[in-house]
Amino acid sequence: MITILSGTNRPGSTTRKLVDYLATVYQSLDVTPTIVDLQELPAEAFLPSVYEKKPESLKPFTDAIMHAQGVVIVTPEYNGGFPGVLKYFIDMLPHPAAFQKRPVCLVGVAAGEWGALRPVEQLQGLLSYRGAYQFPDRVFVRNCGAQLAASGIPVAEDLQKRFSAQAEAFLAFVKRFHPAA
Ligand SMILES: Cc1cc2nc3c(=O)[nH]c(=O)nc-3n(C[C@H](O)[C@H](O)[C@H](O)COP(=O)(O)O)c2cc1C
Repeated sequence: MITILSGTNRPGSTTRKLVDYLATVYQSLDVTPTIVDLQELPAEAFLPSVYEKKPESLKPFTDAIMHAQGVVIVTPEYNGGFPGVLKYFIDMLPHPAAFQKRPVCLVGVAAGEWGALRPVEQLQGLLSYRGAYQFPDRVFVRNCGAQLAASGIPVAEDLQKRFSAQAEAFLAFVKRFHPAA
C-alpha cells in the first residue's frame, strides 16, 4: 500500500492537484494509492490536548501512514521551508514507529526557482533523524504556475516522464523491503 501525503492544508493548493496527478501515475502502475489531504484534518486535531490524547477522528489520517508500505510526501515551499501543518501532522504521528524503516519518497513544488529544494532537504533531515528509508530520487517542480496545468498535470512530457520514472523506481524500492507488495 502506497500513501501520498499532500503537505499543505491550503484550499486550492497546487500541491494537492499534483497529488491527484501522481495518484494517476501510480494507478498506471497498477497501484491505487491512499491520499492524505491535510485540508481534511478535523478541527479537533488542532486542540492543544491532542499531544496527550488523540481524537478518534485523527485515526484515519494516522492509519494511512502507519499502514503504508511506502509514503510519498509532496511538499510545497512556504517561507523557505515545508508548511507548518505538515510538521504538525508529523508531530501527531506515533513516535518512533511512524517513519522508522518506512520507505519514503519526496516531491517538491514551488512558485520559485528552487523548486522546493529547501523544504525537501529539511524533510530529509527529519526523516533521517526518524530512521526512514529514504528513496534517493527526488523530483522538484519549480515555477509551478507554468510547469503545471491548472489541473496539476505537468505541461512538459519530460516532467511527466520524471514522475513516472520516480514512481516506478520507488515501487521497486518498496518491494525490496516488502517483498509481497
Ligand atoms: C504561506 C506561503 C508561503 C510561500 N513561500 C514561498 C517560498 O518561500 N518560496 C517559493 O518559491 N514559493 C512560496 N510560496 C508559493 C508556493 O510555492 C505556491 O503557492 C505553490 O503553488 C505551491 O504551494 P501550494 O500547494 O500552496 O499551491 C508560498 C506560498 C504560501 C501560501
